[in-house]
Amino acid sequence: MSEVVKETQTPPVVMSGMRATGRLHLGHYMGVLRNWVHLQNDYTTFFMVADWHSLTTKYEDTLRLPEYRRDIVLDWLGAGIYPTKATLYFQSAVPEIAELHLLLSMITPNKWCETDPTLKDMITSGELNYGLLGYPVLQTADILAVGGSLVPVGKDQLAHLEISRDIARRFNHTTGQVIFHEPRPLMTETPSVIGLDGRKMSKSYQNGIELAFSEDETTKAIKTAITDAKRLKKTDPGEPNDCVAVFPWYQTFTDASTCETVASECRAGSRGCMDCKKQLAEAVNEQLRPLRERRSNYAQDLSQVDAIIDAGNTVAREKAGATLQKVRRAFNLV
Ligand code: TRP
Ligand code: SF4
Repeated sequence: MSEVVKETQTPPVVMSGMRATGRLHLGHYMGVLRNWVHLQNDYTTFFMVADWHSLTTKYEDTLRLPEYRRDIVLDWLGAGIYPTKATLYFQSAVPEIAELHLLLSMITPNKWCETDPTLKDMITSGELNYGLLGYPVLQTADILAVGGSLVPVGKDQLAHLEISRDIARRFNHTTGQVIFHEPRPLMTETPSVIGLDGRKMSKSYQNGIELAFSEDETTKAIKTAITDAKRLKKTDPGEPNDCVAVFPWYQTFTDASTCETVASECRAGSRGCMDCKKQLAEAVNEQLRPLRERRSNYAQDLSQVDAIIDAGNTVAREKAGATLQKVRRAFNLV
């Protein structure tokens, strides 16, 4: 018997999630979210706020979790996810995922989790908590609960996803019931946007642009960007390839001819870094304007946002409930 579920579901189910750790920035948008926006047109899409996953490392400080969760959905809606196309929901509103996690944990060797390289980087307290060890198993339950077969994520998630494939395969094999797809990653081609200080863009470094920033906040942040350190005066010739953050952003956010102009003026010493940053800020603001407008419209009507999430929770619960029933049966629990 084939151990791969044929992709008879039309269209295939795309599932992805983000932890609720605060507002999203441009890096999330370029790396993942923009891809989600495209996918919602061609697939059945489930996008989940992984609030349980947030607890795997941030269990001590949960005061702002309600705010973070909703902020993320606001960022998604602002980015152009349509609630009529995609199902948006909270993980903790779907208890079926927890039961599926439990059942999947029975067939998951500890070693698969212990050797997950991403988890090693996540250990904050020096200890590996049971919940954190189960991170990839919970993530597998997220995906399989709604019948996900394609998972759009960043590179950092590939190791987790490999475990998901192994768990799905082992389940199908062990129970002889071919219930699950082996979920495959869907990668974006866009290289990640570098942080304004040259490090990876991350909330904790405060080196990015939040999607919810105002235009002024954006301009201010871009002014702090690191350029070509050898340039002291405006008339010093610069080297765009040594420009830490500004030129790379031009390459991401503007067209080839703009980049060419910037590069040649920089090399000729006829372009000051301050002006260069101002122009970049304008370009970034222009691209973010429609997202920000949409976001602020939703932010002014939070009851509508809550209704969207409630409706999504219901859809996800129904789907997960049906999956879970099959899994219980496969283990002869019903
Ligand atoms: N681990 C993912 C991240 O940190 C979030 C996540 C949770 C997820 N559940 C998922 C991603 C299911 C894809 C599918 O970004
Ligand atoms: Fe970078 Fe622009 Fe300054 Fe050149 S002029 S170093 S591209 S910020």
